[in-house]
Parts: sequence; structure tokens; C-alpha cells
Amino acid sequence: MEFDFDVMVLGLGPVGLVTAVGFAELGHRVLGVDIQVEKVNALKQGKVPFYEPGVEPALQKHLREHRIAFDHDAAPWIPRAEVIFVCVGTPTKPSGEADLSAVRSVVEEVRRHAHGYTLVVEKSTVPVLTARWMEQEFQKVADHDIEVASNPEFLREGSALHDFLHPDRIVLGVRSSRAEHILRNLYRGIETEFLVTDIETAEIIKHASNAFLAMKISFINMIADLCEKTDADVVDVARGMGLDPRIGPSFLRAGLGFGGSCFPKDIRAFQHIGQTLQLDFELLTSILRINEQRIHRFVQHFEEVLGDLKGRTLALLGLSFKPNTDDIREAPSLKVIQALRARGARLHLHDPVAIPNVQKLFPESPPDLIYFEDPYEAIRDADGLGIITEWDLYQTLDLPRVKSLLKRPVVVDGRNIFDPETMLNLGFVYRGMGRGRWLRKKS
Ligand code: UDX
Repeated sequence: MEFDFDVMVLGLGPVGLVTAVGFAELGHRVLGVDIQVEKVNALKQGKVPFYEPGVEPALQKHLREHRIAFDHDAAPWIPRAEVIFVCVGTPTKPSGEADLSAVRSVVEEVRRHAHGYTLVVEKSTVPVLTARWMEQEFQKVADHDIEVASNPEFLREGSALHDFLHPDRIVLGVRSSRAEHILRNLYRGIETEFLVTDIETAEIIKHASNAFLAMKISFINMIADLCEKTDADVVDVARGMGLDPRIGPSFLRAGLGFGGSCFPKDIRAFQHIGQTLQLDFELLTSILRINEQRIHRFVQHFEEVLGDLKGRTLALLGLSFKPNTDDIREAPSLKVIQALRARGARLHLHDPVAIPNVQKLFPESPPDLIYFEDPYEAIRDADGLGIITEWDLYQTLDLPRVKSLLKRPVVVDGRNIFDPETMLNLGFVYRGMGRGRWLRKKS
């Protein structure tokens, strides 16, 4: 295969593929590499192996226009690459530490094959000081001209391509004006604030941002528990807090807590960095602990209304860790399923796109665990309904129909998508998360 390219992207998971397609959207010629041959073959056919709005049509357009190409072997291309984005996975080891073995292999390959000036850019979330270690590795090569930079991603799943093209900021951690120039040039056309800083600061910005956002979520969830004990309403508390511009209204939605491929993993890795450097990072431990307790609180709501859950049928809507994705990594749904099954409940599960992924972990076994394509069928004859993920589809459910289908009109709303007053007026036994003001009101 012959292909001239401006950018090489190593690792084609959600971050890498969106980065590759994003740079193609900006008019660059992009070579994407992943060691998984099957994935590469699918991408060559224009097929995206995960659900991410807008990526597949953009990929197909750029394939047609020869602006993007894929390979499973980086070696022949590395000598010709001026800039390489490292987007390989950085999962968590049992100790919480980030597992950098994929980054290590990339470093090895680049060391072996780089020719002339090569800029290696960290895009995957890595612990601070990873770049310094990479630099030391590259220095072992005689006459090397390999430079490292950090350009963290802040992509949200479900709107990743949009976030790539319309970022709140672009952070460039660089050691030289040459690296800055190359990276600025790649992002030309994007109007946003560029923060140019040293590499270590850029690495910390990523971990600190995610930890801070997760802290906001756990904070409001802590307050949710207080609201339930004091008959207050966490939605109004969050609104009142969010009106203060120093706090801001976003990421103050109480509920089942955070999941996904980033927050839990990044906080554990950040915790580990704190420990290694003997710093007091206890705050992060509380963030994770509060988040885990959300599952328990959700299950308790059912128990408080229905008593023993053994033999009860519960319909659970939403399995992905958040709407508009089929990603179930660290999804609260998985822990809810486990907890409810441990109590002997029978589960009817629905999700618009994530069922195939969940089925791999929890195979269907009627009558204990059944998957449904239609949410109303999942609800039929259930003793209670639980909302786990706030897909739009659920926010517009025909509520009188829902009530008529349920055996008992019990709704535990893990994402606070319904208006409590409406629910009570319709005759539901309704419980939101942190909506104490409505908890003891009778319908
Ligand atoms: C996040 C960051 O937003 C992104 O910048 C980073 O690059 C990767 O991690 P993502 O994991 O895709 O992105 O999801 P996000 O939309 O941020 O939501 C994270 C989790 O927090 C979800 O489980 C969501 O349900 C939960 N959440 C979010 C809340 O429980 N309450 C809120 O107020 C906001």
C-alpha cells in the first residue's frame, strides 16, 4: 500500500479513531494503525467497531477521498512519520496503577524504526512523568531525533467527534517551539484557547480535570443522601449551588454515579501517583467510595418499597454507562444487575444499543434474566421499574401506559429523569435519587 500522510495515529480505540477521523476532518492525511487485524480490516471497509455518532459517515467519506488509511503494522510507516499520536489503551492494574505495557511497546517500535525528526505525542491518559520516561528511553538510541509532547484528549463518549472539532481548550505540553509549531499547525482551523505549557503540567491537567469532575459528581451524590434524610430536593440544591459562577451548574446531576472508561480508571491511577509520591490524596478515595455506595442506595430504594426482592421481577432500563453509547465499561448497570440478582430478583433488561455487550457478561437465562427489544415489553408485569441510564427514549415514555403495564406502580429513578410531582399525580410510588422532598409524599 502506498500512502502519503501528515499524521500517524497508533491505537484505534474510541480515542484513537476519533483523533484519526478528526484530523482527516481538518484536512490532513491520516494513517491509523492498530495491532488488531480484524479491527483494521473493518475500518478499511468503513465500519466502526463501536457506537459513536458521526464517526462512521465521516470515516467513509475520508476513505473515499483517500484522506485516511489503516494498517496493522506500524513498522514500515514509522520512518516516514513526522508526528505520531499515541492513543493506545492504558488500563488499570489491580494495584490501581496505570498499565503502560501498550505504551511501552509503542516506544519500542518507535525507537527501533524512527528515522529523522519524529514527534511522539501522548494522547492517551498517562500518569505524570510518563513523557520523561519515554524521553529517557529514546535517549538510549544513538543519534536519535525523537521528541515527546503531551496533548491530552478531553473527548466525551457519545459526542467525541464534536468535542474533537469544538474543544473548550487545546493543551499542548511541549519542550520546543518546533513541537509547538507542528501541533498548532495540525489543529489549524479550530478556534479555541491554546494552552502551551511544559509536558508534566499537561499530563497533570488531564488527570486533575477528570478527578475534579468526578469529585463534583460524588459531592452532589453525598448531598443527595443528606436530602433524602431531611426531606429536601437535591435537584434544587444543585440548581442553587450552580447559580454561583464559581461552582457552575454542570456535573452536579445526582444519581447512580459515574462509570465509563475514564473516570474510575483515571482516579485510581491518580491515587496511585499520589501514593508513589507520598502525597495525601485521600480525597480521591472518598470520591470512589461515595460512587460505589450509589448502587447500594438504588437497590435499597426498591427494598424499602417492595421488601424482600426474592422472586420479584424488576424492569431495568438503560445498560450503557451513559446515553448515546454502547459502552458498558464500569457501567453502574453491571453492579446493579449483580446486586439485584444476589437478592434473588428476576430482571427484565432493556437498552437501545448495549444489550449485545451486556449479554456477553450476563447471558440470558429466563425467567431470571431476560433481554427485551421494546422497553414496554420489559416493563410488562414487573413489580418495579428502575431507570439506570437516561436515554432520551426513556424520558419520553408514555407514563400512563407504563403504569398500566406494571404489576405494581413502583419507579426508582436512578437518574432523576422524571418530574416527581407528575409521577405522584399519575399514581406511581416514585423514588428519585436525593429527592427527599417527595419521598414520604403519598400519591
Ligand atoms: C469523561 C470526560 O468528560 C472527558 O473529558 C474525558 O476525556 C473522558 O471522561 P465520558 O467518560 O465519556 O467523558 O463521560 P461523561 O459525559 O463525562 O460522564 C461520565 C460519567 O459521569 C457518566 O457515567 C455520567 O453518567 C456521570 N455523570 C456525569 C453523573 O453522574 N452526573 C453528572 O452530573 C455528570
